[in-house]
Amino acid sequence: MIQFEDVAVRFAEVDALSQVTLTVPDGVLCALVGPSGSGKSTLMRLVNRLVEPSAGRIRVRGQDVAGLEPARLRRSIGYVMQSTGLFPHRSVAANIGTVPRLLGWDRARIAARVEELLALVQLDPSLGERLPGALSGGQAQRVGLARALAADPDILLMDEPFGAVDPLTRRDLRAELRRIHAETGKTIVLVTHDPEEALELATQVVVLRDGRVEADGPPAALVAPDAAPFARELLGGAQPGLRRLSLLSVAEARDPTPAPPGAPVLPADATLADALSRMAETGRNVLAVEGGSIRLDAVLARGR
Ligand SMILES: Nc1ncnc2c1ncn2[C@@H]1O[C@H](COP(=O)(O)OP(=O)(O)O)[C@@H](O)[C@H]1O
Ligand SMILES: [Mg+2]
Repeated sequence: MIQFEDVAVRFAEVDALSQVTLTVPDGVLCALVGPSGSGKSTLMRLVNRLVEPSAGRIRVRGQDVAGLEPARLRRSIGYVMQSTGLFPHRSVAANIGTVPRLLGWDRARIAARVEELLALVQLDPSLGERLPGALSGGQAQRVGLARALAADPDILLMDEPFGAVDPLTRRDLRAELRRIHAETGKTIVLVTHDPEEALELATQVVVLRDGRVEADGPPAALVAPDAAPFARELLGGAQPGLRRLSLLSVAEARDPTPAPPGAPVLPADATLADALSRMAETGRNVLAVEGGSIRLDAVLARGR
């Protein structure tokens, strides 16, 4: 869906990106992570031509973006800015309807779509008439997400969308994003400096360091012992083994042999970190799970 071919970006004195070759397949939720200044926002902004490469090529849906008209390209891609970027003098409804209006939809169709989107991001329909200044931080982020989704783009770019909200709101917004991704199959690129957020949401994680791709792969692989040390430390923190177990389902270590009578029971959707925690709490090294049992040694083997 998105391909970067040996891309470099140079701003005056700064090499923001060098030798970036990367593929984001259709339908993935790709998290770009890395320290501040590592090039995450620049990499994302190449996709909708808010930044132009100094070298290399970017393809979107197989087409070189250099040959596409920027305004038209941007209307085809949802973009959630770092600081919501809502138009302050336009109502919430007008903000959400921005791209459909540019696409020439009629008023009734826009109104219906705005209503649908307010419901999707779980905002009260009465908020449509308000100005952005009268919203809480979390509400404003939801409006930003609704605006990006308005014309149903197949690609959604989000630059630290949950940065400015409290932890509870962030948790709700993450859950919503996961649901939207699962329900729509859109290709989503998410910039975040929060490793936990990246591991929890992404199906593909790209670690940037000084403008280069340091690692690229599924979350569990990037916290495995053989992952690039920088990526493992960034994503795994002080407990990379436990982080990895939290990304793996109990099904990965299940033994079809039934557990002994009286073994504690784990739900089928538990992770291997949940299994380890349950063993620690109960002092038991075998747990029951639908379809068999989970043994301590099998859990430990998957942590590596
Ligand atoms: N428009 C710009 N002009 C000059 N330098 C820029 C510009 N945008 C970004 N940079 C520089 O490029 C590097 C990467 O920036 P950025 O992509 O914003 O990093 P991140 O999003 O990972 O924090 C930084 O050194 C930043 O200062
Ligand atoms: Mg940034």
